[in-house]
Amino acid sequence: MSLPIVRTVADLRARVAAWKAAGDRVGLVPTMGALHEGHLSLVRLARTRAHRVVASVFVNPTQFAPNEDFDAYPRSEARDAELLESAGCDLLFAPDVGEMYPDGFATTITVSGVSEPLDGQARPGHFAGVATVVAKLLNQAQPHVAVFGEKDYQQLQVIRRLVRDLDLPVEIVGGPTARAEDGLALSSRNAYLSHEERLVAARLNQVLREAVAALNAGERVDAVETRAVDALTAAGYARVDYVEVRDAADLSRIGPGPADRPARILAAAVLGRTRLIDNMAV
Ligand code: PAF
Repeated sequence: MSLPIVRTVADLRARVAAWKAAGDRVGLVPTMGALHEGHLSLVRLARTRAHRVVASVFVNPTQFAPNEDFDAYPRSEARDAELLESAGCDLLFAPDVGEMYPDGFATTITVSGVSEPLDGQARPGHFAGVATVVAKLLNQAQPHVAVFGEKDYQQLQVIRRLVRDLDLPVEIVGGPTARAEDGLALSSRNAYLSHEERLVAARLNQVLREAVAALNAGERVDAVETRAVDALTAAGYARVDYVEVRDAADLSRIGPGPADRPARILAAAVLGRTRLIDNMAV
């Protein structure tokens, strides 16, 4: 058996409507493909919350800046479909750009506040692209529950805000970050790393773990952030976009003294030509 694939919103809606008519709960796992164990863990998590799981694969052009890796982004639909089926997915929605953004498309959703710092500064326009395509996917599939990875923690908080603000009738669930044995967060972009870079890449998570230990021991946020940036630079990262401790819910600034409320440490840094991100709870 091979996984059914639909490419139009009309076909997607017909499948979902039939499931709902039979009383099934429907889960959605939006992805950009090039799937790895992290995505599959989200599909399995969706399965625990829904009778039927749809995954979408769409490399969304509007969330890439002109200087970013839209063209190079890995695409592997046949392999993705096999992996999705093995993880218990029931349907793949794989629209093309024309289906998602027909001629004359003119609407953009911007989520203020939580979209603005961190990747909002480093990647202008990125979260407007994400919020718009996620709002479309949620409206197209109309799932009961949608699952997103905590690896993109700021994205998850942006989507939670979007869903609350627009009264979208869907439950948003965050899935834990899947990691390689040395701690590196799994990411489709890890495929860009050379052998030497891959050895250094895990330092990002080690540095965050050291920072969390220091913060939990009551060390000042400003000192911990500075030390983490220095450690990444010393490890060979070419550029550190940020290492910051933020409020876990709205991502407002915490510190400079010790962290005094539930917090998250988030980092983005460039190794060779690959931009890596990671985050951990404090
Ligand atoms: O996290 C991703 O893969 C993408 O940003 C998403 C949520 C599928 C929107 O394009």
